[in-house]
Amino acid sequence: MIRKAAATIITVLPLFVLSSCGKKGADIKSPAVENYSYSRPGEVAVSHMDLDLDVDFTQQVISGTAAFHLDNKTGASVVTFDTWALLIRDVVLEDDQGRETQARFVVGDSLAIVGRPLSVRIEPNTRRVTVRYQTTKEAEGLQWVAPAATAGKKQPYVYTQSQTVHARSWVPCQDTPALRFTYTANIHVPKGMLALMSAQNPREKSPDGVYRFEMMQPVPSYLLALAVGNIEYRAIGPRSGVYSEPEVVDKAKWEFADLEKMMKTAESLYGPYRWGQYDVLVLPPSFPFGGMENPRLTFLTPVLVAGDRSLVSVVAHELAHSWSGNLVTNATWNDFWLNEGITTYIERRIDEALYGREYADMQTIMGMRDMALEANEIGKDSKFTALHVDYAGENPDEVPSTYAYEKGALFMRMMEDSLGRAHWDKFLKQYFDDHAFKTMTTARFEEYLKQNMFAADTTRYASLKVHEWIHDPGIPSNAPTVKSERFEKVDRQIAFFKSGARASQLDTRGWTTLEWQRFLDNLPSPLSAERLQDLDETYHLSTANAVVQRSWFPAVIAAKYEPAYPAIEAFLTTIGRRYLVRPVYLELAKTPEGLEFARGVYQKAKAGYHPITQTGIELVLYPDGKKAE
Ligand code: BES
Ligand code: ZN
Repeated sequence: MIRKAAATIITVLPLFVLSSCGKKGADIKSPAVENYSYSRPGEVAVSHMDLDLDVDFTQQVISGTAAFHLDNKTGASVVTFDTWALLIRDVVLEDDQGRETQARFVVGDSLAIVGRPLSVRIEPNTRRVTVRYQTTKEAEGLQWVAPAATAGKKQPYVYTQSQTVHARSWVPCQDTPALRFTYTANIHVPKGMLALMSAQNPREKSPDGVYRFEMMQPVPSYLLALAVGNIEYRAIGPRSGVYSEPEVVDKAKWEFADLEKMMKTAESLYGPYRWGQYDVLVLPPSFPFGGMENPRLTFLTPVLVAGDRSLVSVVAHELAHSWSGNLVTNATWNDFWLNEGITTYIERRIDEALYGREYADMQTIMGMRDMALEANEIGKDSKFTALHVDYAGENPDEVPSTYAYEKGALFMRMMEDSLGRAHWDKFLKQYFDDHAFKTMTTARFEEYLKQNMFAADTTRYASLKVHEWIHDPGIPSNAPTVKSERFEKVDRQIAFFKSGARASQLDTRGWTTLEWQRFLDNLPSPLSAERLQDLDETYHLSTANAVVQRSWFPAVIAAKYEPAYPAIEAFLTTIGRRYLVRPVYLELAKTPEGLEFARGVYQKAKAGYHPITQTGIELVLYPDGKKAE
């Protein structure tokens, strides 16, 4: 169900927008929402967009124009864009002779999650529609980072996160993954700052603060991206490199040294990398995800720069989206597993090629555990444990998605094991070739799979339980079993510790982040404060990398081991990756004292969190919906 939006969104719209609607657009009906979008690209679709935007850090506003080339397939008289808390200044039409006229337009009522439709009256000869607009403080896809929350501490920073439905909060657009378009952009930023997009990018700062971008391959709106800050570039391979603040850039270059090898591996499996350049951008710590697969420029949390290359599988994941997701795109968010499940499978194939089967299998085992934990939270028969899910208007950012990733990857692995690796690799490569730069639904995937892998053999198709994997909740009985010797060794140390061994007696030689996660996630709970102190003093877990901290702090909280609380506060007030901070808040919220502490910390941390993280955490800390001030 789409719920009514909070009143705040209405109050930020100035009256002139509403009055101009009333005067000029009364005859335009607001179209229904489909797949989280008001737009109807089946009728009239944007084929190309030209942005001209000014980034104003003083006002924290992006303003300018978005000009859309239209493909009017049905002779429609209205084109509709999605917007979220945007101020629409005016709209101009350009006809096939290049003549410009003011357009009649209306900004419709706001609905929660999807925002407001911007409907523009067009003529049969309209070729281009130019929308002049600006963003507001309510923009859910924009994070304005204060200088203090950057690595350099001197200059501010801004970045976007458009997936799932947030592109519309910084660009009016047909915000559906079912549509692709090319784009160009002129971006004006303060002198001394670098601007980057999901496009062909500059490597040097421009003297006048103006940057010109071009994205020649058509992309869906959720892959629109922009970042502006004090950013430098270092090349890694001939077509790969890293961007970040100067304080981080050389460490990041070391951490991600395997980029080119990862690309070669993926190409050898699934065909050429079709986006030209592959760079990564290391963002400030408020970035709400581990990574985001913006084309040509993956966005990454700085947490991955751990100093030991232990977290680079996230990069393998985002790179893998260059095939599954960016090249062949889920047509609706109900088909999200096609993006993330196939990507997680490819991620592990890259992991395997670079770091060995054991490393990849350890990731799979952790994924299975994550599914079991999620099933405990949402119920093992929850519809979110099927691959194809009817989102039914839920907030797409809050939909439980572990099964889309891990069951999706396990399904792919089952197919590989059952049909043979060579055969399965060939199938996927052909799948990407046949559907490059197109969208895919689950139904069409099933049909393609049946035709290409099973010919007419429906018995074999049924025996692999493909339908059950895709449409039924839970894990089918033919799921592969995956083992790891390294985890078995950890399990022996867990047993030893349970039997009373001191921390210093444990054999932790050669343990990486993965082993520590396994160890900490499986300790009995609650442990005594003494035992936690012993572990902390021996292995310095309170100051370990953030992924280890994510597993350590819940154990600390369950035991009320207070000496580690300052470290928890430091963690929660610097890191904004939702996946890392959410489990810590969840554990705190289990007791009244913990909840009080968590709410106190959150008040300090909130301003530094991305709106997506804020929403996720407020659902934990204020489940009755009463928001923090
Ligand atoms: N595309 C996702 C991030 C995303 C998903 C953003 C849904 C908004 C809505 C990205 O590829 C991703 O999956 N990131 C993961 C890392 C991965 C290794 C599991 C993350 O950030 O945790
Ligand atoms: Zn992903």
